[in-house]
Amino acid sequence: MERRAIGSSALSVGAVGLGCMPMNWAYSASRQRGDESLRTVHRALDLGSSLLDTADMYGPFTNELLLGRVLRQRREDAFVSTKVGLLVGDQHVVANGRPAYVRRACDASLRRLQTDVIDLYQLHRPDPEVPVEETWGAMAELVRAGKVRALGFCALGARAARRARAGPHDTTIAQLRRLQQVFPVAAVEAELSVWSREALDALLPWCASRGVGFLAAMPLGSGFLTGTLTPGQGFEPRDLRARHPRFTAEMMAANQPIVAGLRRIAARHGERVTPAQVALAWVLAQGPWVVPVPGAKRERWVTQNAGAAGLRLTARDLAEVRALPPAQGSWE
Ligand SMILES: NC(=O)c1ccc[n+]([C@@H]2O[C@H](COP(=O)([O-])OP(=O)(O)OC[C@H]3O[C@@H](n4cnc5c(N)ncnc54)[C@H](OP(=O)(O)O)[C@@H]3O)[C@@H](O)[C@H]2O)c1
Repeated sequence: MERRAIGSSALSVGAVGLGCMPMNWAYSASRQRGDESLRTVHRALDLGSSLLDTADMYGPFTNELLLGRVLRQRREDAFVSTKVGLLVGDQHVVANGRPAYVRRACDASLRRLQTDVIDLYQLHRPDPEVPVEETWGAMAELVRAGKVRALGFCALGARAARRARAGPHDTTIAQLRRLQQVFPVAAVEAELSVWSREALDALLPWCASRGVGFLAAMPLGSGFLTGTLTPGQGFEPRDLRARHPRFTAEMMAANQPIVAGLRRIAARHGERVTPAQVALAWVLAQGPWVVPVPGAKRERWVTQNAGAAGLRLTARDLAEVRALPPAQGSWE
């Protein structure tokens, strides 16, 4: 598989990564697939999808424990990215960016991951109670201590920024500038997909101009862009999509033209090419520093998604994606 640099750092990964979140978090039936998840991670590494994206919060903790079982056998094949700063509380998720907590959380992640170094340690969300420089400074100490190779910042707060009437990523860029004063940001993880393109306006160009890598989260639109979900199919109550405005039967039906467009493009590239692969190839086409991290718990999805690294979209394909109707259903 083609390799891509993490911005201007000396680190590189396979062009298509693996988002491990669905194995233990967020989506339905997440918690019943331990063995298949293990096979899925091994398969990803076999195919060169070396970037394994996890977080202490996923599970919580079980996602890192699962990866630890793989990493203890084949650490050199993997690039492990985990996150700090969000905890699962009784009622909802809470932020903690206090330096002492960050230090403890890192040691705990290292133990669960069965490794002595985390390749990319990402700040999951800034803690509104703690100046972000303090949290980032504590993370920088972990790099100096050799426990972490590079630092990343998760920018999935675009919805909150929109509510605050800032541009989708204005707040993020302001925060990134503050972080850069303290310690280099090696990568930003933000949502980017055919149906969520806000990052193209300002965030992606900002990253490109400063040598900051870009990890595209939710590149498959939480599964919608693969064309395997049916309007009205329903989701388990704990599946995030059960409460998601774009996943009501009505909105899923309204957004079918987007999937149909991806299918048309896929068909031109051969009968075995899938809409999921076109959706990932589109993300890859946004710049040589962009690495999609499609989430998957099934081995066959990982195999298919890795195949997207070899799919080159033509100018006509890209123009057709640009001309697709905007997604219906607010993210707010
Ligand atoms: N930093 C953050 O705050 C943050 C937030 C969100 C996500 N992320 C990261 O981004 C990753 C990706 O986001 P995501 O998992 O939410 O969404 P996604 O990648 O857009 O979609 C994942 C869903 O697509 C399905 N899928 C994957 N490949 C497929 C294929 N080829 N054909 C059909 N279905 C396929 C998966 O099904 P199965 O589950 O059945 O395999 C899963 O339900 C996460 O895993 C996580 O690592 C980070």
